Amino acid sequence: MTTFGPDFLFGSATASYQIEGAVAEDGRGPSIWDTYSHTPGATEYGDTGDVACDHYHRWREDVGHIAALGLDAYRLSIAWPRVQPTGRGPLNPAGVRFYRDLLDALTAAGVQPLVTLYHWDLPQELEDAGGWANRDTAFAFADYARAMAQELGDRVHTWTTLNEPWCTAYLGYASGVHAPGRTEPATALAAVHHLNLAHGLAVQAIREVLPEARCSVTLNFHVLRAADPADPEDADAVRQIDAVANRAFTGPMLEGAYPEDLIADTAAITDWSFVRDGDLAIVHQPLTALGVNYYSTTMVRRAPEGDATSDNSGHRESAASPWVGADRVAFVREPGPYTAMGWNIAPEALTELLLDLHRRYPTLPTVVTENGAAFEDEVSPDGRVHDPRRVSYLHDHIAAVAAARERGADVRGYFAWSLLDNFEWAWGYARRFGIIRVDYDTLERTWKDSAHWYARLTRTRELPAVDDVEPSVPVVGAPLRATSPAGAGAGSLSDPGARAARA
Ligand code: FCB
Repeated sequence: MTTFGPDFLFGSATASYQIEGAVAEDGRGPSIWDTYSHTPGATEYGDTGDVACDHYHRWREDVGHIAALGLDAYRLSIAWPRVQPTGRGPLNPAGVRFYRDLLDALTAAGVQPLVTLYHWDLPQELEDAGGWANRDTAFAFADYARAMAQELGDRVHTWTTLNEPWCTAYLGYASGVHAPGRTEPATALAAVHHLNLAHGLAVQAIREVLPEARCSVTLNFHVLRAADPADPEDADAVRQIDAVANRAFTGPMLEGAYPEDLIADTAAITDWSFVRDGDLAIVHQPLTALGVNYYSTTMVRRAPEGDATSDNSGHRESAASPWVGADRVAFVREPGPYTAMGWNIAPEALTELLLDLHRRYPTLPTVVTENGAAFEDEVSPDGRVHDPRRVSYLHDHIAAVAAARERGADVRGYFAWSLLDNFEWAWGYARRFGIIRVDYDTLERTWKDSAHWYARLTRTRELPAVDDVEPSVPVVGAPLRATSPAGAGAGSLSDPGARAARA
């Protein structure tokens, strides 16, 4: 029997732009995701986060779900433009109050809040001034972090500076499939450095206010496979992608230096002169924990000169590659099974990753801050959402965490992505990751079988069997029903019919 002690944190995660909606309310400023999602062709079906899950108005109900799930912790992100509309200058009191109330309600429910300061919704004014290509953005971020530590400090269990800077830099500035949609390889590398700098400056700023603050960063580690493990050329492709995707962040943040092979691999693109004297000492801050997001593995091979890089990152396709400097690396489709994202399912790689991080950074605990799966869920005639593949995915990955712990890895928590179906970036509402279903017509929340299964896990602290999905806790505010009352709540949606029709 796989069991977890009382100190291990079971949680679930969300991000501000993906769930909040209310993008123009109570003084919130525009973010790069507002601009990007409203750009024709940028997202699937032209979806935007204008309404999303309407969490901004329904947060009390959502805290009720979090409490009913028995979560120890909840990982949320603050929308920078909600609390500081232009990214600089005075705070927006209504925005600060929203998060203060939310954090208080979580605490009152016995749930520890983990707060991410940047989950991709940069204030648009900062992007207009150059975005993450501009060094000043790192300093603006530190000011915002300091202000949040002052305003919310005693309410936060752990501060996470950045979520997945890989996505911000390479999807935002190289392949352009995320906001701000730029396709400039040299800019992407400048963004990498300015994000690293922002992380270090923010940790310093938070600890100026709260000397004992628990600080972390969340990275999406690429667990790499060589197409032919016996081929040294393929092994070198693994090395190259490991450098640009993983070590570009762990190097400066955890070891105080950029990898030499990364500098060499990208020499034709940039001379890295944006790294100034003293920067690396700032970036390299002691952390309380390392956040690990893991979904699937990545297989590569060395491609001949002139052989275009085949598809890339598991994100939306683009003519421009996110893999800066890696024109001679081809990405090979892994064996299945796959989720609805087309991502392969490989739980054993999570054990491997956690053990590898423990070997490299033995004194740094890890937390799995995101793991989960999108599938094409349906509401059954019995009114329930039977999602056995998601239950299996969660089961197998939590077992993989337990296996890493048994072998010595210091893993302190696991956060299922996601609490709610939500705005999945460029895929809009067409991909559902929630353990709670959101009906995008009525905005009604319905627990999927995976939520019932997860609630059993949090209560018993033993990994339940995959068929152990019967409702066992009273669910607050989430009646089970097969169909929604016609039109209920639809008036608040920009295009409810369209979102519901493909749900
Ligand atoms: C991660 C993001 C998260 C969500 C999941 C599916 O890259 O951090 O917001 O989109 O992928």
